Amino acid sequence: MRKISIKIGLLFFCLIFTMEVCLFFLLHQKIAHTRIDEELSALVTRGNNHRDVLETYYNAETIQHIALMEVKSDTEVVITNYQGEIIISSTDITNEIRRLINTDKKEIHRNGQVIENDWKSKPYIASVTPFETGLDTGYVYMFKDTSQVKQLIKQLNRHFLIAGIATAIVTAIIILILSRIVARPLIKMKEATKKLSKGNFSIQLENKSNDELGELSDSIQRLANELNHLKTERNEFLASISHELRTPLTYIQGYADVAKRDHLSVSDRVNYLNIIIEEATKLTTLVTELMNLAQLDNNTFTIHKEWFPICDSLKKISKTIMPSFQEAGIKLVFICPKNYKISADPIRFEQILLNLLDNARKYSPRGTVTTVEVEQENSDLRIFIRDSGKGIPSKDLPFIFERFYRVDKSRSRDLGGTGLGLAIVKELIKAHHWEIEVSSEVNKGTTITIIARGE
Ligand SMILES: Nc1ncnc2c1ncn2[C@@H]1O[C@H](COP(=O)(O)OP(=O)(O)OP(=O)(O)O)[C@@H](O)[C@H]1O
Ligand SMILES: [Mg+2]
Repeated sequence: MRKISIKIGLLFFCLIFTMEVCLFFLLHQKIAHTRIDEELSALVTRGNNHRDVLETYYNAETIQHIALMEVKSDTEVVITNYQGEIIISSTDITNEIRRLINTDKKEIHRNGQVIENDWKSKPYIASVTPFETGLDTGYVYMFKDTSQVKQLIKQLNRHFLIAGIATAIVTAIIILILSRIVARPLIKMKEATKKLSKGNFSIQLENKSNDELGELSDSIQRLANELNHLKTERNEFLASISHELRTPLTYIQGYADVAKRDHLSVSDRVNYLNIIIEEATKLTTLVTELMNLAQLDNNTFTIHKEWFPICDSLKKISKTIMPSFQEAGIKLVFICPKNYKISADPIRFEQILLNLLDNARKYSPRGTVTTVEVEQENSDLRIFIRDSGKGIPSKDLPFIFERFYRVDKSRSRDLGGTGLGLAIVKELIKAHHWEIEVSSEVNKGTTITIIARGE
């Protein structure tokens, strides 16, 4: 669940903790060295002081006094003559002290020097200072028990340990909080996508940051909205389809039942059978149109554009559609001033115009005129399809390109409409990268404009 924050947290903790350990180690070394150096130089200074006293007042009493002073302090003194014979000492002479006294002292500086600094493994740290009076020469040895130094370092170590643990705890807490802050949007997004994958598209991701995470969160939100929209659209679409399929099927079923009866006259039976055929034809058209749309939707459908003279194509279309216009008592006029060339898929272009002209015919009363006019504007061609029919109310205008949308549901059903014609037109226009506009006035007529972009 919170794996990501644990991962981020551990990574940061390891990094920072390693850095802290290195820094602490360096600092510890530095402080320990300084402390040891201080101890050593204090020892040398003390030896030098004794030397000064000795050189000033060299007598038995002074020597005694020096030894007595050291008995009471935590350092020890041993004074020897030049040959190394001990004159006085403030402590028992151990083997180690004897070893140190017997070391080679040829090059010893007058201001004294350290002769043992190994505080880790030796029992003493030690210094020597030579003295010289009119009466005698010799050496003042100073010793300090290393257990005291060790104690000092131990204390230092303890302080460092406490500080180290405290720092580690504080670091861990800060990292815990930070990694949660960093991981929280990720976890939210994970939960959201999980919901999406389960089909729950109504998610709400609040987005406060404008970094990459914020962008990702925005994208997921947009995706969810889109999926939600698609879901509702699909549901509506399925509802419409089943409705559209059910109506003709009910007719077919009903009339088939009636036609089955024994005592019917032949003409009645033929009549019913004709209705059945008519409804079955409608169903076939509906299914074909749906297949068309599905193809257009899937992008499996490709258009094959070619250049051809538009007026020739319009003439062909006019031949196909003229009889139905004549039957409906509507005059169809083509205005094609110049045989412009258009780049389009000829079959699809014909399909677009047939659909639009079919509407003009269906939704116009007898005695009206429908015109198709071609105009050139810069490199674009504009094709106007104007009818003087019943028009489309402005509240319906935005929806007429939707599948199954019909302004007057019952009446356009009588006219055989399923509400798919304009949806197909829209997809075809889109596939051509063209535009389509509609303007309409109720009871005056409708004008559809196709803007065919020239390449
Ligand atoms: N020229 C027009 N004049 C008036 N109303 C129109 C016109 N063209 C379309 N409409 C309205 O828009 C609706 C949608 O048109 P569309 O062509 O998509 O469907 P249809 O004509 O009802 O059915 P289909 O074309 O699938 O047989 C129509 O039902 C009609 O109400
Ligand atoms: Mg139509």
